[in-house]
Amino acid sequence: MRIRCKPWAKPELEACPFYISDPKACKGQWQAQFPKTQPLRLELGCGKGGFIAQEAPANPEYNYIAIDIKNEMLVLAKRKLEAAYAEQQLPLDNVRIMIDNIMYLRECFAETDRLDRIYINFCNPWPRGKHKKRRLTHPRQLVQYRMLLDGEIWFKTDDDELFEESLEYFPEAGFRITTMTRDLHSEPTLRYFETEHEHMFDEMGKKIKFLIAEPDPSVPEESLRELLQYSEKYSERKR
Ligand SMILES: C[S@@+](CC[C@H](N)C(=O)[O-])C[C@H]1O[C@@H](n2cnc3c(N)ncnc32)[C@H](O)[C@@H]1O
Repeated sequence: MRIRCKPWAKPELEACPFYISDPKACKGQWQAQFPKTQPLRLELGCGKGGFIAQEAPANPEYNYIAIDIKNEMLVLAKRKLEAAYAEQQLPLDNVRIMIDNIMYLRECFAETDRLDRIYINFCNPWPRGKHKKRRLTHPRQLVQYRMLLDGEIWFKTDDDELFEESLEYFPEAGFRITTMTRDLHSEPTLRYFETEHEHMFDEMGKKIKFLIAEPDPSVPEESLRELLQYSEKYSERKR
């Protein structure tokens, strides 16, 4: 997706009290970034913030971090969050936003930063063979999340191939799938806050695929160490 350059995005983010400018410095200390210690949830690739701006104010008993790789997207999420909390007259104290490449998430999160839930909404499908490893649901990524996660991953996509292959990725990385549908919008009990891309694909008549996965207790972490080592090696930044 082409994104128009916004020279004002970075200064606006840097002036924002809930923007984390140095996420690596928070590694192992994420709870200290919030006034209340409470279960921590991440949204990976939050885009323009349509989801987090519904989810976070609706659940003040959780802390949230919304991550995107692009200033130009995150600044729109920042504005959407400010508008949502102002409209509901709530203190904006349970959400933080940060820029990071999720492939290097473990540079910013330690295994002591326990996560209650991760949302992955409409991540890039990376359809070409050698690029598939960049998918946010590739086993190389999932195993990194698993080391931090006590709860669930909620994953939504419009992309058939990404979804079908992700159904295999999750068990490979030591997860079990507890909920799954290939047509989320036909299941009222599973429908949840919509994202911008969900709305767009729904209008186009595309079916939304959705799953919930959780760490499989029958797969011990030790058995995943090899995958994790491979994952860490691959995701070392090229300096
Ligand atoms: C297709 S958009 C989806 C946005 C939003 N979640 C939605 O459903 O409307 C994917 C978003 O993920 C971000 N993104 C892609 N790769 C990323 C990465 N490796 N690390 C962090 N963010 C990433 C993009 O900048 C973009 O905002």
